[in-house]
Amino acid sequence: MNMRVNIPVELDRLAVSNDSIPHPVVGEPAAGASSPHESALLHVSGEAVYTDDIPELRNTVYAALGLSEKPHARITAMDLDAVRQAPGVLAVYTAQDIPGVNDCGPVIADEPILADVLVQYVGQPMFVVVAKTVEQARRAARLGKISYAELPFILTPKQAKDAGLGTTDELRLIQGDVQAALDHAPVRLTGEFSCGGQEQFYLEGQISYAIPREKDGMLVLCSTQHPTEMQHAVSHALGWARHQVEIECRRLGGGFGGKESQSAVFACVASVCAHLLQRPVKLRIDRDDDMTITGKRHGFYYEYDVGFDQDGRILGVKLDMTLHSGFSADLSEAVASRALAHFDNAYYIPAADIHTMCGKLNTQSATAFRGFGAPQGALVTEMLLDRVARALGKDPLDIRYLNLYGTDTRNTTPYGEVVAGNILHPLISELEASSDYRARRQAVKDFNAHSPILKKGLSISAVKFGISFNVPAFNQAGALVHIYRDGSVLLNHGGIEMGQGLNTKVAQIVANTLGLDLECVRVTATDTYKVVNTSATAASTGSDLNGKAAEDAALTLRARLADFAARKYGGKADDVTFAWRQVSVNGKTLPFAQLVEEAYWDRVQLWSDGFYKTPEISWDKATSRGNPFFYYAFGAAVSEVVVDTLTGEWRLLRADILHDAGASINPAIDIGQIEGGYIQGMGWLTTEELVWRESDGRLTTHAPSTYKIPAISDCPRDFRVQLFKTRNHVDSVHHSKAVGEPPLVHGVSAFNAIADALASLGDGKQSPDLDAPATPEAILKAAEGLRRHSLV
Ligand code: MTE
Ligand code: MOS
Repeated sequence: MNMRVNIPVELDRLAVSNDSIPHPVVGEPAAGASSPHESALLHVSGEAVYTDDIPELRNTVYAALGLSEKPHARITAMDLDAVRQAPGVLAVYTAQDIPGVNDCGPVIADEPILADVLVQYVGQPMFVVVAKTVEQARRAARLGKISYAELPFILTPKQAKDAGLGTTDELRLIQGDVQAALDHAPVRLTGEFSCGGQEQFYLEGQISYAIPREKDGMLVLCSTQHPTEMQHAVSHALGWARHQVEIECRRLGGGFGGKESQSAVFACVASVCAHLLQRPVKLRIDRDDDMTITGKRHGFYYEYDVGFDQDGRILGVKLDMTLHSGFSADLSEAVASRALAHFDNAYYIPAADIHTMCGKLNTQSATAFRGFGAPQGALVTEMLLDRVARALGKDPLDIRYLNLYGTDTRNTTPYGEVVAGNILHPLISELEASSDYRARRQAVKDFNAHSPILKKGLSISAVKFGISFNVPAFNQAGALVHIYRDGSVLLNHGGIEMGQGLNTKVAQIVANTLGLDLECVRVTATDTYKVVNTSATAASTGSDLNGKAAEDAALTLRARLADFAARKYGGKADDVTFAWRQVSVNGKTLPFAQLVEEAYWDRVQLWSDGFYKTPEISWDKATSRGNPFFYYAFGAAVSEVVVDTLTGEWRLLRADILHDAGASINPAIDIGQIEGGYIQGMGWLTTEELVWRESDGRLTTHAPSTYKIPAISDCPRDFRVQLFKTRNHVDSVHHSKAVGEPPLVHGVSAFNAIADALASLGDGKQSPDLDAPATPEAILKAAEGLRRHSLV
């Protein structure tokens, strides 16, 4: 069927001064318009409904969790009398009260919902109190008297490695003869490096509101990126079939990976309480408890041995990555596997031996966070390329040009996938010019020559990010599209809106397919009773998968309407066009709504499902080989900083980013994702530091007072973000590319710029001894190290 839809989704109503934004042209199919986020007005006016804003039912009661005070201990006794007797308390439950299975591990059954015999980190939930008010529940939860037999605990990945303690399988990727490559390498860098984890810091905390229903049913209003997983976890905890449990979610106030598996414990606890009491139960976690209970990004400890040729070309990489996995496996193996498939980043590595181990530690179980291991993989290589540039006295950009993946040769990744559609070279040359890289490099040198204390640094880094879930089966999605008799359209899909603009994009796609504009399409809450067996909205695949599924449904409807129109008005169905809320058939043009009404009277089915699965992907875990990614997204960033080498303070002066979102469905939203991703990545590598106290294993940075996410004042005054003009070479939705996570990797350039500034304290060849995060303390220490070195 070849029906041209020649209306842009919407006229560009948002003034975004960015000349890379393609303005919609009438007559061009599927132009991406910068429509505002479908909830933008609701977000700013406070009308957007989050789970805690939903009007509560009469009878609703409130739960709070009693948390472990010890990092590793046997529970010898739990005296909860004081909790039971506290004002307003209706019930207190422990693991024994869970009707089904006491486990909410997403992959491996190693994560009790409520700890009963063993606690494995400070903050692990042990019991739940239900009371008449939130305040009463929270106060009572502090009154438990727990006796513990303490056990030894560990808090760093290195300790876990030395002790041989892992949460899940180790992975290994071997390509070529690394030892030979290293043995003959003229330049060799060996050493250790580490990066910290990162708190997701979604603004809306974890929450679940469970409402019992007739005949053993449960509705859970839950802030989650993975409703299907919540449905599974809750039915498992209750010992029920999945069809008894409905999970509903309209939107999240941010997820960033922290509400993929980590929402399960709250959904399960709220549901168990609601079932036992036969009353609606709400469990909303305050910020300190949220940060204490839930998992974060994995910190990594690296040991590397890398060989280069005389010019700085990588010959071989031996890399051992130990992840801070925390007390349970959670998604750690998948994170390790993504790190394994991203340490190469944008660069060709002929020989590699990469090993990952997920270190079992007595902390929260580390989990998904934007990038999912890819940023940790890319970081180490970007850091090493800067070090080799320094050692060889070359420009780090030239080292990158030497190592970039090629298009015809040097284009296969260590895991065997060919980097198709590679636009790295043109993209980076464009950024080199638009950021004025060479002149600014000279200006930084000149500045540093005359400035003994304030030192400037400049860096460039690239990203190549594979798009698809590493587990091929997860790459499927469904959608439902309903057309009502007045021509208005209701859309439901399996993805979760968490601020990233997914619903806007999917609605644009449906509107576009039916020749309508965005106002005609309403998106409803994600609901496990509508589209079923969904994957998490994660791995940046939300609009790729759900957009295609919704498009499929809309195409089915368009075909039915076109058939009907041709039957009624003559001509061929293939020649019917849908545009500007109108339908043209056989020389006649009528309103879309009129055709729909006529189709109804002719008993045309006016709703459809849609389905999509990503083609041609594969992964063999045993060998760490395959074609795991449908395509790659690319980009590059240049960051300039100034560092005060006497205090360790620094400022980001300017950032230039050129990023590949394919043929963007919504350039304004994509640019927002790129800006946000970069700043979040910068936060991870600089100001955000997780500190577990050595004496008692407690996370001491559990509130915004001690955990520093970037603020608006940390954004560079001069922030230039552009979309690279291109379209995806594969048949992705409208030839766009996923954009949720890849830009986080650009934050690496802020870290490297700080290192660059510090390097100017020494002879220029010496690299600072700087791990991530580069907090002011770490910067100061590295600066002292270099000063001492240059005095020797
Ligand atoms: N943007 C906002 N505003 N809020 C979020 O929680 N999550 C990120 C990214 N961008 C997030 C976000 C993460 S971790 C992912 S995987 C993607 O969005 C998920 O959405 P997508 O697949 O629709 O891009
Ligand atoms: Mo994103 S870490 O894949 O939720």
